Amino acid sequence: MDILISAERIAQRVSELGRQIRADYQGQPVTILGVLTGSLIFLSDLVRHLDLPLRIALIQASSYRGAVTRPGDLHIQSDLVPDLKGRHVLLLDDILDTGQTLSHLVQHLRAMEPASLRVAVLLRKLGRQQVALEPDYCGFDIPDAFVVGYGLDFNDEYRNLPHIAVLPSNPGAA
Ligand code: IMP
Ligand code: MG
Repeated sequence: MDILISAERIAQRVSELGRQIRADYQGQPVTILGVLTGSLIFLSDLVRHLDLPLRIALIQASSYRGAVTRPGDLHIQSDLVPDLKGRHVLLLDDILDTGQTLSHLVQHLRAMEPASLRVAVLLRKLGRQQVALEPDYCGFDIPDAFVVGYGLDFNDEYRNLPHIAVLPSNPGAA
């Protein structure tokens, strides 16, 4: 598979994002809320750059895949999420594609009355957004291709690649 972003470039950028986030929150306690499962690698690298009073929590969002449901339908599993009322929450996901997932999550989380809510994504696909959602922190803008690695999967595989690679449209031919 072609490497789009090397492990070195990712590490460099994650450390820059960490510096920016640390400066923005100015020592205030933050709850990092990672979206399962794609954000796990990004989360684990990023938090080690955050010298802040920090809590880590996880939330799951899965698209319904039934034939009768609309593509935007999303099931949010927030049993693992602690009380966010009055907390500074930083929602973390692997990739902003259409924006459906994150915009639904943001709506869901606002109801929990956090003191503030910001969004960080490692990747943003250009020309794909269907909902206006401007992430507060974004690692890389990438072209419209299906990518895997560093947490991102295809059929739950390839999450463990240390870099971001482009999945061939016909994997059998690769
Ligand atoms: P959205 O709701 O369309 O923004 O899609 C977000 C979710 O789709 C992400 O959290 C990923 O799980 C998945 N996704 C979108 N594009 C890709 C990709 O290129 N590779 C792997 N997963 C992707
Ligand atoms: Mg995901």
